[in-house]
Amino acid sequence: MAFKSASRPNRSHAISPACVAAPVELKTGKPRREEVITGSPDNNITDYIYEKMGADLHRQADHPIGIIKQAIYDYFEARNPGLFVKFDDRFPIVSTRANFDEVLVPADHISRSPNDTYYVDASTVLRCHTSAHQAETLRAGHAAFLVTGDVYRRDSIDATHYPVFHQMEGVRVFSEADWTAAGLSPTQLAEQDLKAALEGLAKHLFGDVECRWIDAYFPFTDPSFELEIFFKGKWLEVLGCGVMEQRILDDNYKPGHKAWAFGLGLERLAMVLFDVPDIRLFWSNDDRFLKQFGAGDLTARFKPYSKFPACYKDMAFWVSPEFSENNLCELVRSIGGDLVEEVTCIDTFTNKKTGRTSNCYRIVYRSMERSLTDEEINALQERVRKEVAEVLKVELR
Ligand code: DAH
Repeated sequence: MAFKSASRPNRSHAISPACVAAPVELKTGKPRREEVITGSPDNNITDYIYEKMGADLHRQADHPIGIIKQAIYDYFEARNPGLFVKFDDRFPIVSTRANFDEVLVPADHISRSPNDTYYVDASTVLRCHTSAHQAETLRAGHAAFLVTGDVYRRDSIDATHYPVFHQMEGVRVFSEADWTAAGLSPTQLAEQDLKAALEGLAKHLFGDVECRWIDAYFPFTDPSFELEIFFKGKWLEVLGCGVMEQRILDDNYKPGHKAWAFGLGLERLAMVLFDVPDIRLFWSNDDRFLKQFGAGDLTARFKPYSKFPACYKDMAFWVSPEFSENNLCELVRSIGGDLVEEVTCIDTFTNKKTGRTSNCYRIVYRSMERSLTDEEINALQERVRKEVAEVLKVELR
C-alpha cells in the first residue's frame, strides 16, 4: 500500500495547509473518454484502464465486491442506526488537491509520482484512494460517512495486484458533548470507538477471529493503526485507520471536533473471505465464477474450476536509467490485457566493465476463460518485445 510506513516522508516537507474551497459540483457516472485520455503531456492513462471505468463492481449486489460492501453497510447500520451516510458513486476523476493536498500527503511523497498514479493532466488524477473524498464530504457537513469507489494505481502484476480496485473510506466525527458524556479525552474517545467499531466489523465479516492492532503511519491520521486478524492460521492485515489529523477536520469541518477515519480494500477482504485466488477473477464475466456468489451471502467459498494452462515467456534487456517496472507492467497490460497473470523479474546482473544492468522478466499468460493458442501468445509477445524496445527505450538482448 502506497501510503504506509515504508514511504514515511520527511515531515518538515509537509505542504502548506489546504484552504477551504467552495463545495464542488459532485459529478457521477462513467467518465467520457476525452475526460480521461486527454492530450496533456502529463497524461499516462491507457485505453486498457479507460475500459475498466464505469464497471461499478461495488454496485452489483451479487458480485463479491458488492456483497462485501453491503455487509459493511449492514454492520454499521446495526451498530449505529441511521448514522452513516453512504456514497458509492463519486466521480473517480479528482484534483491532485483532493487526492493528496487535502489529506496532507507531503509534496515529495512517492504516491504522487506518475510512476504510481494515473494523471489526467498535471493537476488531475484518477483517485488512488477513497481518502480523496474525505475533505469534500466533511465540507458538505457530513459527520459520519462511508465512501466506496473504484481506485486506480500503477503497480506490479500478480495475483493480488490489479490497476483498478475498490476501497471504502469511513469517517466519524465527535463533538464535545460526546467526549464529555464518555468521560474521556477527545482522542481517547475517537481511538476507543474506532477500535471497537473495526474489531466488530472484522468479526461480522470473518466470524470470531482474533484481532490485533499494529502501530502504523499515514499522512492523514495520528495516531495511526493497522488491524490484523488471525484467519486460517495466518495474521492478515485488513485495513488502515487512525484518529484524523486535526488540521483536516479544522480546515474542512468546524473547530472543536475530533474524528476517526479508516480505509479498506474490498478486493483484499473478498479474496480472503471467499477464497478467491486471483484478483482478475473479479473482472471475469464467466458464470462459473459469478454464479458462485449471491447477494447477502457471506458463506460462499470459491470452488476453483479447471484452470487453463499457463504460458511463460522470458524477455531480457539492458535497462535504461528511466526504466521502471511499473511502466513495463503498464505496457504489458495494454497489450495482453487480462491474459497477463504475472510479470516478475527472474534475473538481474550488472556487467562489471560497462556498468550496464540487464533484467530478465518472465511474463505469465493465462486466460481465466479459455485455452490460449501458441500463435496468439507468440503474436502478443512479439508486440510486447517491439514496444518494450521502442517505448521504454531499452535494448533487448
Ligand atoms: N488511504 C489509505 C490507502 O489507500 C488507506 C487509509 C488508511 C485510509 C488510514 C484512511 C486511514 O482513512 O485513516 O492506503
